Amino acid sequence: MGSEVKPAKGLRSWAPMRHLNAGFVAGFLLVLLTYLVVSPQFAMDTPTDVTTAAAPLIDVKETTPTTAAPTEADADQQKMEHKVETPKNTSKPLEKGKVVCSSNGFYSDTCDVDGDVRTNGTALSVTLVPASWSWAERHEWKIRPYPRRTVSGIVEVTVTQLASPEEQAAPACTVSRSVPAVVFALGGLTGNYWHDFSDVLVPLFVASRRYGGEVQFLISNIQPWWLGKYEAIVRRLSRYDAVDLDHDKEVRCFRHVTVGLRMHKEFDVAPELAPGGLTMADFTAFLRDTYSLPRAAPVSPRESPEKRPRLVVIHRSHYRKLVNTDEVVRAAEAAGFEAVVMEPRFDARLEEVAREVNSFDAMVGVHGAGLTNAVFLPAGAVVIQVVPYGRLEPLAKEDFGEPVADMGLRYLQYSIAADESTLLEMLGPEHPVVKDPEGVHRRGWDKVAEYYLGKQDVRINVARFAPTLAHAFHHLRPASL
Ligand SMILES: *[C@@H]1O[C@H](CO)[C@@H](O)[C@H](O)[C@H]1NC(C)=O
Ligand SMILES: *[C@@H]1O[C@H](CO)[C@@H](O)[C@H](O)[C@H]1NC(C)=O
Repeated sequence: MGSEVKPAKGLRSWAPMRHLNAGFVAGFLLVLLTYLVVSPQFAMDTPTDVTTAAAPLIDVKETTPTTAAPTEADADQQKMEHKVETPKNTSKPLEKGKVVCSSNGFYSDTCDVDGDVRTNGTALSVTLVPASWSWAERHEWKIRPYPRRTVSGIVEVTVTQLASPEEQAAPACTVSRSVPAVVFALGGLTGNYWHDFSDVLVPLFVASRRYGGEVQFLISNIQPWWLGKYEAIVRRLSRYDAVDLDHDKEVRCFRHVTVGLRMHKEFDVAPELAPGGLTMADFTAFLRDTYSLPRAAPVSPRESPEKRPRLVVIHRSHYRKLVNTDEVVRAAEAAGFEAVVMEPRFDARLEEVAREVNSFDAMVGVHGAGLTNAVFLPAGAVVIQVVPYGRLEPLAKEDFGEPVADMGLRYLQYSIAADESTLLEMLGPEHPVVKDPEGVHRRGWDKVAEYYLGKQDVRINVARFAPTLAHAFHHLRPASL
């Protein structure tokens, strides 16, 4: 988790074309209409199973009945087209199409491909075929569809804009969709709960929320367990079965394809870069809705003055564990909370975890993936991150501090002192790791990770911690009330 390298600032645009913006949605609908009016050669695919809750999330061998009887999905498809209003009878030809690629510094490269776009899964290619009347130059981009460029095991997708005479040679569509697609990869650092959110779920939300479910996901390096774990979220973002892109024999045609996921910041959204100005608070509201979580706000002192706010202490079972959990629970009770210890299990059903976490008003945890559960807290709740010894504050702030604040939660930070770290008893006060954290940082990330993230546990001095608990309590129970 985290990284020693700072993301480079700023977006670099490779193509001198206007960037994707709010006008895109209207643009897409216009293209869709035009396509419905003038393009009979694109037989509309009838997506099956999309309304069945038990439908498999991954659809590897998707068939394409072009003359099938109308299904419920067809009806929904038509509903969508109607929502777009009656086609205006323009003789405007299909748009010439365009590719807009951008590079988000350290993190990721993405392309938005608009027009007659065809995917070949076996070749991991996304091709823009120019309209026959237009003139286009050939361009090619290589996109790693996982939002951390440095992660290994992710195969690049080739995005090509064909030159005009080449359009004749483009493979014919075997499946055509009126909805847009998002191409991304799993694997990478997923499997770590925090990375699941930071690297995939948050960027995927940003990439696809605006479509209201009318979008298809084409997934490279597909991980069925991952899709199973996050099924409720993925299903809500896309009502179509995801395609196992690496093994896909079809040539799929879309009017718009986004290749790659765009990560703005660690576990966070930059609204100024997100379509529709989406925020991290929108993401957590979306999760509360997805899992039907009952609480959107913490316990109200006005409505239930007799109820103590509930605080959860996140327990870690490996390194960076809280050694004196019981003492911390007692200190929290003394501060006025009802305190509970929770040890999230990797295999726990996410809806159960979400529901449990949502019942709390405050969370305490040592820097680590367990704090990711803050996404399920009601807005306005408090998160106290306990920062282990060793100058980890910048990392702690980037990985959780800023994201938590952007979720609309109150963020508090408690940095432990050397005598609250087991490194002191393990190595003694004269060891450079204890004496000179700055020096360890100068020696590089490996040593920082080895000692400060990997070899210490935390024994909170509850007397020193008490003011932080009081602060958290005061936030939920202002003295004036
Ligand atoms: C659209 O225009 C064509 C001829 O330009 C005409 O035949 C057709 O009936 C029109 N359709 C509608 C819906 O107005
Ligand atoms: C897809 O790409 C593969 C690998 O380059 C190629 O063998 C295959 O013919 C392509 N499929 C179509 C329909 O063009």
